[in-house]
Amino acid sequence: MTYKYNHIVLKYLIISTFLVASFSCSQNKVAAVTPEQLIEQRVDSLLALMTLDEKIGQMSQIRHFDDSVEIAITEKFIGSIIHSDGPAPGENAEGWQAKFITLQKKALSTRLGIPLLFAVDAVHGQNTYEGATIFPHNIGLGASGNAALVQEIAKITAIESQATGFNWVFSPCVAVPYNEKWGRVYEAFSEDVKVTSALTKASVIGHQGELNQRNTVMATAKHFVGDGATDYGVEGGETSMSIKELSEQLMAPYKIAVASGIGSVMASFNTLSGVPMHSHKTLITDSLKIGMNFSGIVVSDWKGYSRFGGNAIINAGIDMVMAVDGDLEDFQTGLKRGISKDSVSINRIDDAVKRILRQKFRLNLFENPFPDSTLIPLIGSEKHRNIAKQAVRESLVLLKNEGQILPISKELNKIVVVGEHANNSGLQSGGWTISWQGETENYKGATTILEGIQKQTDAEIVYDENASEQHPDADIAIIVVGETPYAEFFGDIGGEMDRYQLTLTESHQNYIKHYKKQGVTIVVILISGRPLVTTEQIEMSDAFVASWLPGSEGDGIAEVLFGNYNFKGKLPHSWPKSVDDFNGKYGPNFWDDTIKPLYEFGYGLKYEETNF
Ligand code: BGC
Repeated sequence: MTYKYNHIVLKYLIISTFLVASFSCSQNKVAAVTPEQLIEQRVDSLLALMTLDEKIGQMSQIRHFDDSVEIAITEKFIGSIIHSDGPAPGENAEGWQAKFITLQKKALSTRLGIPLLFAVDAVHGQNTYEGATIFPHNIGLGASGNAALVQEIAKITAIESQATGFNWVFSPCVAVPYNEKWGRVYEAFSEDVKVTSALTKASVIGHQGELNQRNTVMATAKHFVGDGATDYGVEGGETSMSIKELSEQLMAPYKIAVASGIGSVMASFNTLSGVPMHSHKTLITDSLKIGMNFSGIVVSDWKGYSRFGGNAIINAGIDMVMAVDGDLEDFQTGLKRGISKDSVSINRIDDAVKRILRQKFRLNLFENPFPDSTLIPLIGSEKHRNIAKQAVRESLVLLKNEGQILPISKELNKIVVVGEHANNSGLQSGGWTISWQGETENYKGATTILEGIQKQTDAEIVYDENASEQHPDADIAIIVVGETPYAEFFGDIGGEMDRYQLTLTESHQNYIKHYKKQGVTIVVILISGRPLVTTEQIEMSDAFVASWLPGSEGDGIAEVLFGNYNFKGKLPHSWPKSVDDFNGKYGPNFWDDTIKPLYEFGYGLKYEETNF
């Protein structure tokens, strides 16, 4: 049989299984086949045709710019492509789609024609694409506490991700951070497990909607489990909890994600009693897959195979491996060797491949493998940006408003706006914005806080970037200070990098002192991925607003400062009083009788007027 003929026969077999199953469904009402049963039949018949190499290929995820990506797809039967940091797939959305269409065609040209999954870290909008709508990071959504809004945001993220060629997002992060020193606090909704669970559900439903449509994506709950509860907040560190404690305190968001139909779960970098989560069979297989009845894909994190024990992670229940940056060969040959030596069972491989195929069928990729070009005009559309602006407004938490100096009157004569964060959309957006570690320059389509202020009033507005000028005649100084962008362990405090403190930098502290000395009324806008120790700065200012990492729509902040809308946000984390509070490793009972936060979880002021 020629290769080509072989190819056609196999594809025919797959399609005919589908048709026979549908026919038996319509002919035999008693034994009607549900869509899920039909998918199982298709999975089984396809699996039965697969060679071991094709199975291992399905379990492999690589980057789109790996040297030999096209050859790997056709010869190593790759199951998925990831776009993370690194070169963009194209110059514009058409180019991104074109690149992924080319790769998809390669996959479809293989013997069995199994389509690829295309994955992206769209963690606050399709944040890898310049021009997309970038929403506040999850900590801000946690402050909004608005599940309907989170669902809408996830729906838009799905549309903009699909518009740039993706059918899978590595979001939401459902961690429950116990330590603000962790560099990923902002990726999670809240320190409170109930808030986290409610918003997780909304996010899963929003992303996945009807999963078989071309404007929805498969979502990923990450990082399973204990990522935000490591000792001293170290990314990938040890989580000092028993399985019982971990299950009671951190598992609820996963349960709700699975119950809401989440398609994938990503394993975490942390260890539990020294065992890497990637190779923790009790938690991945017994608890998640069997206990919660999770039928989707467990994906490893970055280079999980080489970092966390090779085939041990497959035996623990990892189904797909991020075999990036040189890991592909090691993974594929290592797994094959493991199978030949019986250290990995073929049943485990079949289970992994079934889970991957099942999601591909649920996504309807066999019928609709390509992205929809009609979605492209929706990227960064006004409608999407208006939702992002609403999210910015609702995420702001007013911590102090002495003498009701807010809202700011639109009739003032002179306003000074201070700080580089005030006029820089990169700085206001945090990590995972355009690039992995974020930007320190303006990016396309975004509005800065200063631009937002200029839209609100005809007052004279002076911009003093580094608080180097004298303006004692100003009616008010709006001082924007905070953290510079970071992602993952780069944001850890006291960890490997130790680059940041939980306080403002000295120069940012001086911005506030500089205007205080001039006797000007001060409003501080804090841009940060977590609560910072700002006790002195709060005392020194007349009003103080925690704005988290608002994303592309900086003008949402001005709309609330000038009273077009009321404050709604409530603290998603307790707010620390002193740096000393963070010296130990601590967990959920940290805020006990001995250490009191400056503001409790849930705190947030509002304007008194009732006409909002
Ligand atoms: C992060 C994940 C992310 C993955 C892919 C890892 O370093 O921990 O959250 O999804 O990279 O970019």
